[in-house]
Amino acid sequence: MERSSDSVISLRPLDISDADDFMKWYSDEKVSKFCSWDAFTTKEAAIEYFAKTAIPHPWYKAICLSGRAVGSISVTPFRGYDKCRAEIGYVVASEYWGKGIATAAVKMAANSVFMEWGHLERLEALVAVENTASQRVLEKAGFTREGVLRKYYLSKGKPTDAVIFSLLSTDPQVNYFMDA
Ligand SMILES: CC(C)(COP(=O)(O)OP(=O)(O)OC[C@H]1O[C@@H](n2cnc3c(N)ncnc32)[C@H](O)[C@@H]1OP(=O)(O)O)[C@@H](O)C(=O)NCCC(=O)NCCS
Repeated sequence: MERSSDSVISLRPLDISDADDFMKWYSDEKVSKFCSWDAFTTKEAAIEYFAKTAIPHPWYKAICLSGRAVGSISVTPFRGYDKCRAEIGYVVASEYWGKGIATAAVKMAANSVFMEWGHLERLEALVAVENTASQRVLEKAGFTREGVLRKYYLSKGKPTDAVIFSLLSTDPQVNYFMDA
């Protein structure tokens, strides 16, 4: 757990009862702009994504502020020869931006996955070059900026330059004794 102003930030497994709170950012184009998904226009579509993608995901947590879901964070493991690494992704509802919530959540998630998955050597994040807020989050959480991958993926159908960041299990910023 971490504190932001007077509120406690924590991570917990998803529950189907979080669906209403998740709608706050699933339907917000400011949030979906840099995400692989488009903002949902109906609650049914959001619930289907929540039930079929988020709940069965191997590591997908609600980011909570004083117990209430205000965002989500996931860590997706790679398989086979690449299983030494995993990719982190996160969103925070726009009304809560700028309070240090994503930074605290990324630190907690990194500590948790390095502790839970003993084989994990590297946690990485790919961020659109225009997404300066997300790059700042990763810098504050102790990730190393490794470079720019030109036209690396399609964002809303458009080839996008991505900044790649990483955190290694051996980096001194990783604190295995932090309570997540
Ligand atoms: C990126 C995101 C998760 C950040 O969440 P947050 O809780 O506001 O993050 P934090 O408060 O921990 O830190 C944000 C930092 O970015 C900075 N920032 C915000 N907007 C910025 C901008 N347009 N340019 C540069 N820095 C910016 C903030 O000032 C803060 O840095 P500081 O503490 O040095 O002042 C949130 O904006 C979001 O959900 N965006 C949409 C989804 C997304 O982009 N997810 C990541 C995909 S890679």
